[in-house]
Amino acid sequence: MKAVILAAGESKRMNSKVPKVLYKICGKEIIRYVIDACKNAGIKEVIIVLGHEADLVKKNISEKDFSLDIEFVVQEERLGTGHAVMMAKDFFNDDEDILILYGDTPLIGSVSIKKFIEMHERDNNVASLISSVIDKPKGYGRILRRDNKFIRIVEDKDCDSNQALIKEINTGVYLFNGNFLKTALQMLSNNNAQREYYLTDTLEIIKTLSDKIGVFCVDDCNEFLGVNNKVELEFASRLMRQRINKRHMENGLIIIDAENTYIDDEVKIGSDSVIYPNVFLEGKTEIGNECIIRENSRIVDSQIFNKVEIDSSVILSSVIKSKVRIGPFAYIRPNCKIEEKVKIGDFVEIKNANINHGTKVAHLTYMGDADVGSNVNFGCGTTIANYDGKNKFKTEIGDNVFIGCNSNLVAPVKIGNGVYIAAGSTITDDIPEKNFAIARARQINKTDWTKKNPNA
Ligand code: UD1
Ligand code: MG
Repeated sequence: MKAVILAAGESKRMNSKVPKVLYKICGKEIIRYVIDACKNAGIKEVIIVLGHEADLVKKNISEKDFSLDIEFVVQEERLGTGHAVMMAKDFFNDDEDILILYGDTPLIGSVSIKKFIEMHERDNNVASLISSVIDKPKGYGRILRRDNKFIRIVEDKDCDSNQALIKEINTGVYLFNGNFLKTALQMLSNNNAQREYYLTDTLEIIKTLSDKIGVFCVDDCNEFLGVNNKVELEFASRLMRQRINKRHMENGLIIIDAENTYIDDEVKIGSDSVIYPNVFLEGKTEIGNECIIRENSRIVDSQIFNKVEIDSSVILSSVIKSKVRIGPFAYIRPNCKIEEKVKIGDFVEIKNANINHGTKVAHLTYMGDADVGSNVNFGCGTTIANYDGKNKFKTEIGDNVFIGCNSNLVAPVKIGNGVYIAAGSTITDDIPEKNFAIARARQINKTDWTKKNPNA
């Protein structure tokens, strides 16, 4: 079966230049949720109708691999949802059913779509739609029934005061026989409040040709929430977050406060890890088993192995091996690889560095562009000076090195195994292994100096 996803709209109610289908919810564009739901429901080919910012949407979708056929058609003028479907009509075969969905419903689930297809096929319908009952139907098309039988859909802006009270709404998911759909599209008019060709009107037209129209009413109206403005965007994000957090808790994750835990859709987490409040796990992050991620941490596109503890820290595009402890208040910037049992303490910033097992960078340190061996001790306030104002250079540090507090290592520089650097040194030359290096002015004590300078 083919699906058509409508995503050409101007997103006027968003008050923004960005097309609404590209807004992200839990790290994933709204339209990608709809495409994924189609794929998981067994759809093999998707036709996406683009219009407003068509190139932007197309580029975004084309960059991702959905493992299904995607075709694009362009609706040059946005004359309504019925008009948008007309743009895709060359793809419809007469004897085939076509699934139609809107690109602004990110919470839609593949299970409902599958059940919907089953009902449509079982009842031999020529057209079917999914409806739902909601408390606040404002904004949605209402389902009009007589003697419980479907009559037509009336759009919110066209409702009279009685119709506005109807709580059964059109979710915007339809199945049409190709032949009936093409016929009905030809007969559409735009005689309504918005002067648009409404897809919803095709059902009333088809009803004059056949009574094989089915309405599949689903319980969970939230699944079909349309995101038309930023209030709905926030609400949909909240619901998606709940759904994602529940999924992880069912898989064995402990979340202290699910209301305040922000996990992107593609994040993977092992069991018996604990997440404290106000943690953001973003992008393609993976967290292993028995990790503890304490409050106010943000981890983006990173791989965290098992039994890692992270406290109030930021980690970007890095790999953190097992039993590492990070924070509080550490900043791990992209391209770091931190091996087992390393400790990164408070106010430490690390960028593009490999740190071998057991090394301790406990406090107030900057490390950029470095290869560091195992069991190295960074004294408090160590700086790796990797930048000369124009270029960046690399620092290499061997195993079992001790760096005294407040030292500067001016790159490029190589420190051999077992080296000991005196506190306060500014190291500009390589240090051979097992050497002691001291690079600071010798201290002078002046006898009775304060006595001789009483006003100093
Ligand atoms: C639509 C339905 C309404 C339903 C609701 C469910 C119509 C006329 N109304 O209203 O019955 O309750 O969805 O969420 O269909 N689009 C185009 N081209 C256009 C216009 C829209 O591609 O010319 C796309 C939009 O990008 C969007 C989708 O179609 O993804 C739905 O359009 P939208 O403006 O959001 O319709 P609603 O007012 O939400
Ligand atoms: Mg909508």
